Amino acid sequence: MEQFRRQARLPKFAVPKRYDIRLKPDLAACKFGGSLDIDLDIVADTRFIVLNAAELSIDNASVSFSPRGSSKLFRPSKIELIQEDEILVLEFGEILPIGVGVLAIWFEGILNDKMKGFYRSTYEHNGEKKNMAVTQFEPADARRCFPCWDEPACKATFKITLEVPSELVALSNMPVSEEKVDGPLKTVSYQESPIMSTYLVAVVVGLFDYVEDHTSDGVKVRVYSQFGKVNQGKFALDVAVRTLELYKEYFAVPYSLPKLDMIAIPDFAAGAMENYGLVTYRETALLYDNQHSAAANKQRVATVVAHELAHQWFGNLVTMEWWTHLWLNEGFATWVSYLATDSLFPEWKIWTQFLDESTEGLRLDGLEESHPIEVDINHAGEIDEIFDAISYRKGASVIRMLQSYLGAEPFQRSLASYIKKYACSNAKTEDLWAALEEGSGEPVNKLMNSWTKQKGYPVVSVKARDNKLEFEQSQFLSSGSSGDGQWIVPITLCCGSYDKRKNFLLQTKSETLTMESLGCPIDACSWIKLNVDQTGFYRVKYDEELAAKLRHAIENKHLTATDRFGILDDSFALCMARQLSLTSLLALMGAYREEPDYTVLSNLISISYKVGKIAADARPELIDNIKQFFINLFQYSAEKLGWEPKKGESHLDAMLRGEILIALAELGDEQTLDEATRRFNAFLDDRNTPLLPPDTRKAAYIAMMQKVNTTNRSGFESLLRVYRETDLSQEKTRILSALASCPDEVIVLEVLNFLLSSEVRSQDAVFGLYVCREGRETAWKWLKENWDLIFQTYGSGFLLTRFVSAVVSPFASLEKAKEVEEFFATRAKPSIARTLKQSIERVHINARWVQSIQNEKDLAEAVKELAYRKY
Ligand code: BES
Ligand code: ZN
Repeated sequence: MEQFRRQARLPKFAVPKRYDIRLKPDLAACKFGGSLDIDLDIVADTRFIVLNAAELSIDNASVSFSPRGSSKLFRPSKIELIQEDEILVLEFGEILPIGVGVLAIWFEGILNDKMKGFYRSTYEHNGEKKNMAVTQFEPADARRCFPCWDEPACKATFKITLEVPSELVALSNMPVSEEKVDGPLKTVSYQESPIMSTYLVAVVVGLFDYVEDHTSDGVKVRVYSQFGKVNQGKFALDVAVRTLELYKEYFAVPYSLPKLDMIAIPDFAAGAMENYGLVTYRETALLYDNQHSAAANKQRVATVVAHELAHQWFGNLVTMEWWTHLWLNEGFATWVSYLATDSLFPEWKIWTQFLDESTEGLRLDGLEESHPIEVDINHAGEIDEIFDAISYRKGASVIRMLQSYLGAEPFQRSLASYIKKYACSNAKTEDLWAALEEGSGEPVNKLMNSWTKQKGYPVVSVKARDNKLEFEQSQFLSSGSSGDGQWIVPITLCCGSYDKRKNFLLQTKSETLTMESLGCPIDACSWIKLNVDQTGFYRVKYDEELAAKLRHAIENKHLTATDRFGILDDSFALCMARQLSLTSLLALMGAYREEPDYTVLSNLISISYKVGKIAADARPELIDNIKQFFINLFQYSAEKLGWEPKKGESHLDAMLRGEILIALAELGDEQTLDEATRRFNAFLDDRNTPLLPPDTRKAAYIAMMQKVNTTNRSGFESLLRVYRETDLSQEKTRILSALASCPDEVIVLEVLNFLLSSEVRSQDAVFGLYVCREGRETAWKWLKENWDLIFQTYGSGFLLTRFVSAVVSPFASLEKAKEVEEFFATRAKPSIARTLKQSIERVHINARWVQSIQNEKDLAEAVKELAYRKY
């Protein structure tokens, strides 16, 4: 048996073709029983059958063969479940016959409370507490519900039967084929599914209500929720119907199942999960309340639905061959969700907002501890951690870069042929490149390998010299050192106007372009901008002359929003990497005071938070002036937007209002704090007051927490009251994310302890971890004291890693980095290893940044000038 242990993949001498699964969950006792018949193809001589199973108890197993009517039964001489490797090994006394047999297994398990495998979620119905049973199998937890070949490439068909209490709704991937009620229990059978991977199998059992619609070609679409919330499902329902129709056109293949159910689950680890035909969601990602949801909540619902439905083709119909290619699933679904959202809601300017994705990808990939998009996976425990900004955001960004290089039409055409070719099967990254190469005639494989097989990305330096442009690429690292990666970079540039454009591939370390070839002498050019529209996954560093021209162009409103975003974002990154002074960065930020675009301003705000925090460490004596400068910067937009929606205003203005007011509240702007108090009090009297609409609530909550301390707790107590009273998950997370902004350490500790109390679902605690600078030491102490409990609650997974990154990354000293390393030295676990290294690297980067800011001589003078500048 030893030969099957510690292997990344299962041996393939037996291949499953069809699963017939029966499950009987006991919701009160939180356990389940089940039995399985698996049609197996034994393809090589073996005395063993090896498949995945975890946390199950196996009652019995056998394999039967019935060639030409005569049946022969084989019973294993040994059944062993090896917990560390999550495998079930059946050993037989003789070699099994080659051919098709049926493997029967009887087993039992527990409905756990870890939000993975087959688990229970809780809710209230008519004042009574109830359990529901839910599955979450991706990446590798189907094995916790039934023994199976739990790898994406082991596709089979699934015939599911559930035995459940008669009064409950029981859903699975396929429509019901038969339902038999027998007193208090009913047996529900579902149609057999098309061929699919185990991680996409799903079951939900509980009390639910639904709304229903259908697509123009008759696919029945439903949104299920708890009773009383079903009207909040209508927005997602409408988005789903329209998105299914759109993808049918885009992929040139119809949706493959007869129905699509989407369901809100009160306890859910991820945002949503694309189970074939039964997509599960967090409540915040599916339900939209006209009265109490914010514009940002609406957008979240639309993009998550569009993302999960994209997987119905890209992921479910065509599946990655192994987790190394996870990015194909997630990067692609992320990219295409923007395409769908843009088509449904063009006024949201979602492609500009896409830059939030790329910048987060660039941020993570600027670390030495990043990883390539295509990453080796040697153990199931490593999979969770790669659901990160590299797979999702860098993945989506390199797809966008490729699409804009190849052109929308050839890209779509090739994609449709890829989907057709690999439908009901599995594909690797190179298979997608081959399809795109064939459809476009471009060397896609060679171009893209440089982006997916090595980590990192380049910064392209441009210099104007003797009427020539010199380009040089080197690997960008936030630490300021430069790595030795090299890429094939699709360079785009414009000079002086968007009509004068030049594209080329930078294939070597450096290259020079004469201005004749650009058709315009450098002196005559009012500005030169690379990475036009920010479709490339790289940063640009301009020489001083070119940078000054761009600053002018921004002030004179000559550039598009995407390009304004890029210049700001690259400058910020270069500043952190100590290649641009903070003095220069602040001067550039000043050029964005009248910035009208939501995404650009939103990035300006988040940069101001980061700059404020680092400056407070480096130069505390300057912080008041820096804050004043930021207040002046945001005041312009704040005055334009006010606190209440203007009639017929845009979705983007509604989102912007919230973010600008949050920024002013965090900066302690007195006027904003006073106004917030007045409006919050009105809200306490009447939750429907027009004085505090959902878009501005978080700002008001943060403002209230700024004034809270141990002798003045009233704002805090009131927020907790609102938290306890509301049953809208978005309202709860809004409150949680405001509480730890309180600058009083005693209160911060109380908030952190509240996060671990029974009043906060464990899916939601992470929202409360964004602690203000004054509270970071408290948070670290708290994390150390509660680490065992936190580790126990979250086990593994991306929720656990957020505790580490949120608490550790804000520090900015080498001593702290060492302390963190020492604490985790004895607590190392593979599931947090990568995140821990990344967080510590960030602390090092911050520490060096602090030193360099301390050495900036003209900073104080510059900051003073900016703070007192009259507009
Ligand atoms: N396949 C994922 C869900 C998932 C994530 C399963 C991690 C297992 C581990 C799903 O398609 C997804 O990507 N959900 C996102 C939302 C999306 C809009 C980015 C999520 O959960 O955040
Ligand atoms: Zn996804």
